[in-house]
Amino acid sequence: MMLQQQKEVTPVMNRKAIIGLLSTNLEPVPFYNSCRYMPVVIYKFKKSGIDWENKTIKGIMLDNDKWVKAEARFPDAVYNRCYSDSSVITKRLESIIGSGKVFNVVNLFDKHVIYNILKNSCLKNFAIPTYKYRTDILLELLRTQGTALIKPAKGSMGSGVFKITSVENGYNICLRTFLSPKIVNSKDVLIDYMEKLTRCRDYVIQPFIDFVKVNNHMFDIRMLVQKNGTGQWNVTADISRVCYKSSFVSNFVYSLKSVRDALEGTKYNETFISYIKKVSIKAAEILEERLCHIGEISVDFGIGNDDKLWIIEINGKPDKETFRDCSTEVFEKIYRTPIEYALYLAQL
Ligand SMILES: Nc1ncnc2c1ncn2[C@@H]1O[C@H](COP(=O)(O)OP(=O)(O)O)[C@@H](O)[C@H]1O
Ligand SMILES: [Mg+2]
Repeated sequence: MMLQQQKEVTPVMNRKAIIGLLSTNLEPVPFYNSCRYMPVVIYKFKKSGIDWENKTIKGIMLDNDKWVKAEARFPDAVYNRCYSDSSVITKRLESIIGSGKVFNVVNLFDKHVIYNILKNSCLKNFAIPTYKYRTDILLELLRTQGTALIKPAKGSMGSGVFKITSVENGYNICLRTFLSPKIVNSKDVLIDYMEKLTRCRDYVIQPFIDFVKVNNHMFDIRMLVQKNGTGQWNVTADISRVCYKSSFVSNFVYSLKSVRDALEGTKYNETFISYIKKVSIKAAEILEERLCHIGEISVDFGIGNDDKLWIIEINGKPDKETFRDCSTEVFEKIYRTPIEYALYLAQL
């Protein structure tokens, strides 16, 4: 999309709230047009566009459904779109525009930290036991359960997710799929392999959960939980990711289905879906209490073969594209809701 020449935020626009999207790029985002009737200027900017001295920011703004280059005063509220575990910039912005005006202050969560939060909350029964990777834990899980799952503490998109299985003459190491496993024939080789792997990055280890399958496809259930224009948590959308038969990570999407469709023919019904929604909202409340100011998360669930419900992961910067097959109405709402929440914050 071509950007028009630079625009100043005019006095008329000044009567509108400026909602900042702190981002890592200045690419136009095509999905905010449904906010056109709101009294907001949506303003996308990068850290490098901030002039801290003069309190102005260079970026792009949505003007009559077109993104144009612009320079503006500091926003009234900021929706952080940089995937980061650091709050240096968000806190600095907040120190200028006001406490509580920036949300998703950090959004790259550590899986071990999330586990510790859930473990000490009313959601403890849904939390998959998660430890910082240690050889003795690996060996214990292999001895008692025959399998273990290892993944980066701050990973995403299923990258670096390993399933280790104890087999007759050694161990199988599978990365994301069951295709071409690495086979090692001694405990020492396995330990050495894992130590090398975990040297450069923090990994966590969990028991491998055998999730229920439909037609031999594993699936998970994702709830998108967002704060609305009155600051209340809601589940805006839900989706089920059905993964390839050869894969054990639901990030390898074979098809996307509504949760209702994915659960059709199983014993899980609407009541179960409402229950999962309640758990997701609770998770959002708990995380916000323990982590930072949050405006949206996604909560991924899996159902164990023993019917037990597990929270697989909580994501602080959910990928909205996952919901692209939802109705236009839902898809627009997914983009609009954080802007409505930002407007609510701007008006506080
Ligand atoms: N303990 C586990 N047992 C079985 N499968 C798991 C387990 N943890 C994760 N998975 C599978 O791996 C995928 C990726 O793991 P996840 O924790 O979501 O990390 P990422 O941040 O890479 O998405 C999950 O969607 C799920 O399908
Ligand atoms: Mg995940």
